[in-house]
Amino acid sequence: MTSIPLKEISPRSRRRVLLGVTGSIAAYKAPEIVRRLQDDGCEVRVIVTHAARQIVGPALFEALTGTRCMGEFWDSDVGGSDPEKVEIEHISWGDWADCLIIAPATADCLAKMRLGIADTPLLATVLAARCPIIVAPAMNCHMWGSVPNQEHITVLRDRGVIFVGPSEGSLACGWEGAGRLAEVDAIVGKIREVGTPQTLAGHHIVVALGPTRERIDPVRYISNRSSGKMGCAIIEAARARGAIVTAVHGPLSVPLPYGLHRAIEIESARDMADALDMVVWHSSPSVSAVVMAAAVADYRPAVMLSEKHKRGGDDGETCSLVLEQNPDILASLSRRRGGARSPLLIGFAVETIPHGAELISEFQRKRRAKGVDLLVGNRGDDAFDRDTTVAYLVAGTDTQSRRVEGTKRAVSGVIMERLAEMLGPN
Ligand code: CTP
Repeated sequence: MTSIPLKEISPRSRRRVLLGVTGSIAAYKAPEIVRRLQDDGCEVRVIVTHAARQIVGPALFEALTGTRCMGEFWDSDVGGSDPEKVEIEHISWGDWADCLIIAPATADCLAKMRLGIADTPLLATVLAARCPIIVAPAMNCHMWGSVPNQEHITVLRDRGVIFVGPSEGSLACGWEGAGRLAEVDAIVGKIREVGTPQTLAGHHIVVALGPTRERIDPVRYISNRSSGKMGCAIIEAARARGAIVTAVHGPLSVPLPYGLHRAIEIESARDMADALDMVVWHSSPSVSAVVMAAAVADYRPAVMLSEKHKRGGDDGETCSLVLEQNPDILASLSRRRGGARSPLLIGFAVETIPHGAELISEFQRKRRAKGVDLLVGNRGDDAFDRDTTVAYLVAGTDTQSRRVEGTKRAVSGVIMERLAEMLGPN
C-alpha cells in the first residue's frame, strides 16, 4: 500500500493571504473574512487604510491574526523575524503573500490602482506585489456604474486583476443596485480557486452528499450519522479546480458551499435516486463524473404511516418495524452506463473493520461489486463528526490502494486530483 503525504498538512503549505481593507462601510465584514480564511487553512495578514480605521480598527485584526497590521511607511523596525534587520514592509509583505485581496475595495482605491499611485502602504504593496491580486469592490451603485470607475475596472481586468462581486441589493447609502460587497463565501471561494491548478475546468461533476431520511410516520424517520462535511469538502475541492458542480443532498448539518451550478435537496433514498437519474443522464453540460458521498439508508419502512404511531400498552412492550431494501443507487448508475465508463463513478464506503488487510480487501470487494472506478474507503470512527479522516483510495486501474490522512479538505483535494488524472483534460 502506498501512502500519500499531504502537502496541506505542513505549516508552510498554508496559503498566505494578505488582506487590504479600505474605507467602505462594508469594512465591518472584513473581520469575518479573516476568520473564514483562517478556517479555510490560510495564514492572514492585514493592512487597514486610514479611512477604514474609522470603521474597524487594527486592534481587532491584530487580535484575530496574532500579527501586527502593517503600520505607516518606514515604520519598519518591527514585524520582521530578525529584530536586527530592518524590513521594508510594503515590499516584504507582498513577497510573503501567495495572494493579495482587497475587500472591500473603494472606487478611490480602484482608481489609484489603475494609475499606479502608491501613496499609502496598501497601494505601495499592491504595486510591488507579484502574487495574484483579487479585489472585492463595495460602493454606491452610481459610483460603481460611473464611466471613470468602469474604465478603471476594464484596465485592471486586462492587467489580470481578479474581481469578485460586487453583488446587487440594498446599499448602506439607501440606494438599491450593484455595489454590495460580494458574499464572504464568494470571496473565500475565489481565494481558494486562485493558485489552484484548474485540472477539472469545464467538467460537470455531480456530488451526492449527506444522509437520507426514511419516514416511519409524519414525525419520525430512520437516518444515520452523516453530517455532509466530506461531501462539502469534495464540492469545495472540485470548485477550486474549476469544475461545474451540481449537488444532490439530504438534510445537512453544515452549509452547502458557495458557487454551485445547481443544488437539489431530497429526503429519502428513492428521492435521491430519482434526482440523480434526472441530473446524471439529462444535464447540460453533460456529466463527467458522479461522486456518491451520500450516506444512503439501505432500508426504509415497508409502510409509511399517515398518522403518528401512538404509544400504547404497558412499559416495556415491544413494537416491530418491517423494513424493505432501498435501491442501490451507485450500482444502478454503473449498470446504466454499461461499458461506456462515462460518467466516471466514485463511491465511498464506511466500514467498522479495524485497519489492516481485511479492511482493504473489503473496499476492493465493494468497488468491484458496485462497478465503480474509484472507491474511497473510511472507517466510521476515523470519519464521523470529524474534520479529519483516514481514507483508502482503491481504483480499478491501480494495483495498490493508497492511504491518505488529513483534514477532509486535504483528502478531498487528493481525491479530486485523482479524478482529474482519470478524466484527463476536457
Ligand atoms: N450507496 C448507494 N445506494 C445505497 C447504498 C449505498 O448508492 N442504497 C452508495 C453510497 O453512497 C456509497 C457506496 O454506495 O458511495 C457504498 O456505501 P456503503 O453503505 O458502504 O455500501 P452498502 O452497499 O450499503 O454496503 P453495506 O452492506 O456495507 O452497508
